[in-house]
Amino acid sequence: MIADEKKELFSEDKMNKIISLCKRRGFVFPSSEIYGGFSAVYDFGPYGVELANNIKAAWWQAMVRKNENIVGLDAAIFMHPRVWEASGHTTGFSDPLIECRKCHARLRVDHILEDLGIQADEKMTEEEINKLLDENKDKIECAKCGAKDFTKAKKFNLLVKSNLGNFTGDWEKNPVYLRGETCQGIYVNFKNVLDSARVKIPFGIAQIGKAFRNEITARQFIFRKREFEQMEMQMFTHPKEALKIYEEWKQRRWKFYLDLGIKEKNLKWRKHKNLVFYAKAAWDIEYNFPFGFKEIEGIHARGDYDLSRHSQYSGKDLSYTDSQTGEKYIPHIVETSTGVERIFLALLTDAFTEEKLSDGTERTVLKLPKKLAPIKVAIFPLLKNKPELVIKARQIYTDLKSEFMCEFDDNGNIGKRYRRQDEIGTPYCVTVDFDTLKDDTVTVRDRDTMKQKRIKIFDLRDFLEENLSV
Ligand code: GAP
Repeated sequence: MIADEKKELFSEDKMNKIISLCKRRGFVFPSSEIYGGFSAVYDFGPYGVELANNIKAAWWQAMVRKNENIVGLDAAIFMHPRVWEASGHTTGFSDPLIECRKCHARLRVDHILEDLGIQADEKMTEEEINKLLDENKDKIECAKCGAKDFTKAKKFNLLVKSNLGNFTGDWEKNPVYLRGETCQGIYVNFKNVLDSARVKIPFGIAQIGKAFRNEITARQFIFRKREFEQMEMQMFTHPKEALKIYEEWKQRRWKFYLDLGIKEKNLKWRKHKNLVFYAKAAWDIEYNFPFGFKEIEGIHARGDYDLSRHSQYSGKDLSYTDSQTGEKYIPHIVETSTGVERIFLALLTDAFTEEKLSDGTERTVLKLPKKLAPIKVAIFPLLKNKPELVIKARQIYTDLKSEFMCEFDDNGNIGKRYRRQDEIGTPYCVTVDFDTLKDDTVTVRDRDTMKQKRIKIFDLRDFLEENLSV
């Protein structure tokens, strides 16, 4: 049925089509849209929340369930403000910006330099950044109006402030912060986990949770949000073992994306050129988004920086004593850090397909890995106005829905129902027709091949179980 000819989409075109599908089909909505939206904040709709939950479940399975030496945690979003001093975020977590003197657009320096093929060191001072910009001033123009006249670069802190618990109204001076990354909740609970969970080094703590950043420029849909969800794992290791464990995790995290069903040709490694002073190694896994290869996950060997700093700032001893050798040391940390939204967008990019069919019509289909699809099976009565078909289809729906995420649909004609399910990536559509009433069989239509076959209702559950794990 599917003609070989496939439309090659321009990347921008593809991005716009994905954004439009996300809105139209209930994956992602702009936040507070009836009020005009809220920059760089988005809501997951009914299908989006299912996909996001499936991504999180797959990560939790791969990290916590499958590893005897990794335990879970769910630390609060609010933390003691000193945490962010110890971590260096109150002083070092910033993006340098320049402003166009003509149209007053604010532009992120790291993006400008990236477009020029220059990778800037995150730790550069304002002075060093301005020198670099000066050297390249002829090549830099305003993305909005084309002018070449800019203010000096200035750094803006990315932490989001809150007035929680501050009743004096003096909160600008003494703010608490919405966490800028989830891993700090892991570091400050290192001792609690050690004392309560019978873990021994090397062991890991994994967490999924919201993080907040005052990202200056809202770009690239859900790729760069101000409120997003991280999935981070911190492995506490002996200093001498850290790099070996780091290499193992690099391989394991790459494999995670392949197991998830992401195409390997769309993934690549990027080595950090300028390591922060405490880091021993840092690589990112990048995905080929419609706007180019960009970070999806960071894997970092962070040395003893995190626990040393929290020891120093809290005054608590965060060292580890080996119960067998008696050796006492500050564990080194191997971190794996990814974001739900980036995996979500990568999956949509991988899956979004436009096909020309042999009858000349076209269809849009999300070829999501079946195990991650928001709806696993849609159940239709062939005709809406035939109660015997509707009752039978409803029975099947009720039977399957506690096990598989199902949808019942009797709206419009069958063709339209198929198109809708294709667009949300539903692997199987089950139709109850007049033969069903005679022999208790249904048609099962495969999303990718569009082929249909008849299956006994009795065998449906086994068929789905067998075919939905990929
Ligand atoms: N603890 C390390 C850390 O937070 P990061 O590179 O800043 O490192 C890790 O973030 C991951 O979090 C990124 O690889 C990305 O998947 C996700 N992430 C970071 N900022 C994000 C944003 N503004 N919107 C969506 N995801 C983001």
